[in-house]
Amino acid sequence: MTKKRILTGDRPTGKLHLGHLVGSLQNRVKLQDTYEQFVMVADVQALTDNFDNPQKVRDNVKEVVLDYLAVGIDPQKTTIFIQSLIPEIAELTIYYLNLVTLERVLRNPTVKDEIKQKGYGKNIPAGFAMYPVSQAADITFCKASLVPVGEDQLPMIEQTREIVRRFNTLYGDVLVEPEALVGNIKRLPGTDGQAKMSKSIGNCIYLSDSVDEVNKKVMGMYTDPARVHPTDPGNPEGNPVFIYHDAFNLNKKEVEDFKVRYRTGKIGDIEIKKRLAEVINELLEPMRKRRKEYEDQPDKVDEILRSGNHRAQEVAKEVMAEVRKAMKIDYSL
Ligand code: TRP
Repeated sequence: MTKKRILTGDRPTGKLHLGHLVGSLQNRVKLQDTYEQFVMVADVQALTDNFDNPQKVRDNVKEVVLDYLAVGIDPQKTTIFIQSLIPEIAELTIYYLNLVTLERVLRNPTVKDEIKQKGYGKNIPAGFAMYPVSQAADITFCKASLVPVGEDQLPMIEQTREIVRRFNTLYGDVLVEPEALVGNIKRLPGTDGQAKMSKSIGNCIYLSDSVDEVNKKVMGMYTDPARVHPTDPGNPEGNPVFIYHDAFNLNKKEVEDFKVRYRTGKIGDIEIKKRLAEVINELLEPMRKRRKEYEDQPDKVDEILRSGNHRAQEVAKEVMAEVRKAMKIDYSL
């Protein structure tokens, strides 16, 4: 029996943070033994909204790969590769564009939010609007059946499933319809209490942050704004400090005890935050060590990418041969 496949990835537009960890990275580490896993640095997708700043994308490719290795994605088990080095993905995107309508891509709720957030108005770059189609090509070029992602990516997986069904109906059963897998913590709020950790807002704790950075960010976190004194009763519900404790503190009894004392005004924010900073630093410490080991061996990282790209290329060739045959473009000239 060959293993089922996973494909997932990230845009290299910044370092990865705790939101990525709970949303997707933890699942990747957990599932790399049971699946044949492909993890892609989505540089082509990153260029769809950063085409005017290619240096930023280039610089972050390395950062994201180091983050992958730091969290424990094991290059012996997982194929790590760079999107632009697999031109079959671009080819597949072109074919898939026939299978979706303009109206459908612009209805994608995540794309809609991003268009608003970036203030494109009527001047939406076509490449940007189409990136979910390109993402369908990312996922299907290796026939992945599972996609560990954050909640915001669910519309992309839905769109991919539609494209797969359309393709298979038109051309025969070639592609695999993937499912999404979201982490236990659906959405990690930012340190400022906003709904999402986002590098553009600057409310992130990065996996590569130092002990001092973590301490500073945690001590400055948004908590219950109605609470002024440690003796005021506070509300742990929806409070990011408690959401983080729930996500990262393995001592559940301690967290419950904090909540009771918080509600009854018997503990200060400072004590709870100090403990949270400790918990996060314990979580990140092994990642910092591993990151440093790889940072000190750039040749090794290059070799990991070289062999990852090679493996991804092999798979892309196999699947594209089937796709071209199904689409009657398998010329033997
Ligand atoms: N859209 C994802 C993000 O913004 C990155 C991504 C590109 C991706 N291709 C993918 C995720 C394929 C999962 C599967 O982070």
